[in-house]
Amino acid sequence: MNRKIAPSLLSADFGKLREDIEMINASEADWFHIDVMDGVFVPNITFGFPVINYIKKYAKKPLDVHLMIIDPDRYIEKFKDSGADILTVHYEACIHLHRTIHKIRESGMTAGAVLNPHSPVLLLEDILSDLDLVLLMSVNPGFAAQKFIANTYEKIRKLNQLRTDRNTKLLIEVDGGIDLANAQKLFEAGANVLVAGNSIFSSADPVKMISDLKNSGR
Ligand code: DX5
Ligand code: ZN
Repeated sequence: MNRKIAPSLLSADFGKLREDIEMINASEADWFHIDVMDGVFVPNITFGFPVINYIKKYAKKPLDVHLMIIDPDRYIEKFKDSGADILTVHYEACIHLHRTIHKIRESGMTAGAVLNPHSPVLLLEDILSDLDLVLLMSVNPGFAAQKFIANTYEKIRKLNQLRTDRNTKLLIEVDGGIDLANAQKLFEAGANVLVAGNSIFSSADPVKMISDLKNSGR
């Protein structure tokens, strides 16, 4: 499967957001990763619809919207209207995850479930065939630039095995603390999409960093 890189705009410079969007358009990046936090599910607040509408206006690649909000069902249609192409919701935030995932698919978006570092991949075993994507958090959600949690490799391997057993086309995405020190190993463990914020936006040459992450070990 092709490798994908999804730069997280949480680490962009919001004073020149348009420039950072154009940088990603011109790079080898595949998706725009957009972190929406509500200050309840996670101890931080980011941005909402006006900012996502603006990103959609200029982004030439799909918007991968990661919801870190409680009861996300309330806003599925609004995220669709704002231009989300991929919508991911946390297992830990959804009481009726199966219903939520189907609502996302029915609205025409790619549907993904997210697992916090403490949640085992087996929790998704019975809805695996309903999912287009699983996002494994490799940090506790809420902030950029945190330290990568090494147990993630094992979770990717387990999920990869489940995917092979079920013969599904599920994408495995990983988010948090990703840089050149772990990207190759993550792809080799079975990840298809890597999210990276700090490592890209703190780099002197973000376009090159995106390319290096995508091609690491090749
Ligand atoms: C964390 C967010 C991540 C974060 C990644 O809650 O979901 O997407 O922005 O940033 P880095 O790559 O800096 O860990
Ligand atoms: Zn994220």
